[in-house]
Amino acid sequence: MQANDVSAEPASSMIDQHMKKSQLRFLTCGSVDDGKSTLIGRLLYDAHVLTTDQIANLRTASRNTVTSDEKLDFSLLLDGLSAEREQGITIDVAYRYFSTSRRSFVVADCPGHEQYTRNMVTGASNCELAIVLVDATKGILSQTRRHALIAATLGLKKLVLAVNKMDLVDWEQQRFEQIAAEFQHFLSSLGPISTCAIPVSGLLGANVVQKSSHMNWYVGPTLLEHLESVPSADQIGENGALRVVVQGTIINSKEAHNASARAITGFVASGTALEGERVRIMPAGRTTSIARILMPSDPSGSVKAGRSITFCLEHETDCGRGDLVCAQNDAPQMADAFIVNLVWMTGEPLVAGQSFWLKIGATLVTASVVEIRSRLNVDTGEQASSQSFELNALGEVAIETTRPIAFEPFDQNHTLGGFILIDRQSNATVGAGMILRAANLVSENLHWQFTEIDAAARAAMKGQTPLVIWLTGLSGAGKSTIANLVEKQLTTLGHHTYLLEGDNLRYGLNRDLGFSQADRHENIRRAGEVARLMMDSGLIVIAAFISPFAADRAAVRNMMPPGSFLETHIDVSLVEAEIRDPKGLYAKVRSGLLKGFTGVDSPYERALAPEIYIDTQKLRASVAADLIVSKVRDLQVK
Ligand code: ADX
Repeated sequence: MQANDVSAEPASSMIDQHMKKSQLRFLTCGSVDDGKSTLIGRLLYDAHVLTTDQIANLRTASRNTVTSDEKLDFSLLLDGLSAEREQGITIDVAYRYFSTSRRSFVVADCPGHEQYTRNMVTGASNCELAIVLVDATKGILSQTRRHALIAATLGLKKLVLAVNKMDLVDWEQQRFEQIAAEFQHFLSSLGPISTCAIPVSGLLGANVVQKSSHMNWYVGPTLLEHLESVPSADQIGENGALRVVVQGTIINSKEAHNASARAITGFVASGTALEGERVRIMPAGRTTSIARILMPSDPSGSVKAGRSITFCLEHETDCGRGDLVCAQNDAPQMADAFIVNLVWMTGEPLVAGQSFWLKIGATLVTASVVEIRSRLNVDTGEQASSQSFELNALGEVAIETTRPIAFEPFDQNHTLGGFILIDRQSNATVGAGMILRAANLVSENLHWQFTEIDAAARAAMKGQTPLVIWLTGLSGAGKSTIANLVEKQLTTLGHHTYLLEGDNLRYGLNRDLGFSQADRHENIRRAGEVARLMMDSGLIVIAAFISPFAADRAAVRNMMPPGSFLETHIDVSLVEAEIRDPKGLYAKVRSGLLKGFTGVDSPYERALAPEIYIDTQKLRASVAADLIVSKVRDLQVK
């Protein structure tokens, strides 16, 4: 808000005007010595966006650092963090907000010291332009190249090269042009990036807001003129197809169009949301329309990209956090394998094979890094193959998610193509990534086909909440016995069920598989897929598989909607299993006729946190079945 606007207009009309203004979020990168804080401070001062109080404080603070009373130390405006002033360095990312009569701005101020990559990632999320600062007396340094390279990789397609300290090189045109040309040459290797080089002096305020009389040879815009006129993403994004990232629902909202309707809150990542527009809810694929937009209230009944929205759908359609509301006939693709650019942000190096939580928009899925493909040399811009990936590394990796997600490449849509990786134990953010493309050729050429009757409709027909009860445990533990009792009880109660038996699947679908680790892995993957299809058809599935590997069981869990997978450990000691030996298999093992038998010479990984635990040496099978059935009944949505 301009300080000199304040008294002139009533608040409501000022807010209206502010809402209509476009916003530009930009990042500043440069080192302590390049004069970055001074340049931004000068920008704020000369653009008259500081309050009288801020200017008075600046005058007082400047007395400690500058000798002449006339001069103000603009770098102090950006100090926000006192440690920075004491140490003389900028720490972490600081955000400033300001607004001129033409546009509102968010400045992410990034430090130039050794954590620059990580901090730039934090600062660059949602930014669309970067000001790369260079000291005219020093010219392009490797650090300048690094900043430009990282900015370009992070999807910032607009750069401003601010050639600062022009006063120290006698305002020399030749010096400026030489630096600008060298920078342009370097950028040409990075793909389509629009650049604007501006000769400035932050200290003296030359070409920051006002044109400098010392550089009449320069005919381009001043820094502020450029920032005010460059097309901003929310102006561009409005033309894309509609994508609303759903963040939550407000049940029985008073503002909803009828008392029972749910209002949906979200963020318009691209396109313009219109009342009456036909939409598709992803990933389920159901279609409906936007009945009413509740917030922000605009007589046009539309909300543009870059804004938050609260709205009601036409039907009481299932739609919640993590879903996407998209243009009906232009929904994004789904895939479960991706090639991404990844920035590593933690001290513990990345190892291929590690699995994480991946958060994209409001969606959280399990994902693993399958391959570190290459690493970017941030000094030369070259990609080289690499196995190591430590703090601040930036490079290409292949990632798989345990279920397909709706996405768009990062350069088309930052919200649907940008993600973070979260450590599953500590919940810390360990990486930030940008989707380059889907890696799964199958899903790249296939499009998920939506069916008119969906899982919810099928479950409603059967009058039940579908579930998967996954019984795991050693051979002889009693999985089949208990599974049969559970199925009988559920059927008696009127439920629709199917018992998926490990042995039986190996007679048909899995007849090509043996008992190697790879075959068991495939056995469980297929069993999981079958269970998923059955659940999709509305059934309560009881699955009885040794499923000895924890990772395989976790993968099956991740195939199912949250809360619908009940891992049930049917526990028995090996000694007891051998005594029971219902199929005579342990006897065969001991006489050397059977090798690689689970629990004997092939591992069984116990379930660490199963939903249901049954100690078959303490509980009779019928009691165990009662326990499982009562859990199933508790989970039925009444
Ligand atoms: S899993 O390990 O891949 O989950 P699954 O549950 O399908 O196994 O099948 C296990 C059944 O195969 C056992 O009940 C047992 O009858 C039989 N079987 C034959 N060989 C083995 C073996 N080496 N280890 C375990 N079970 C075996």
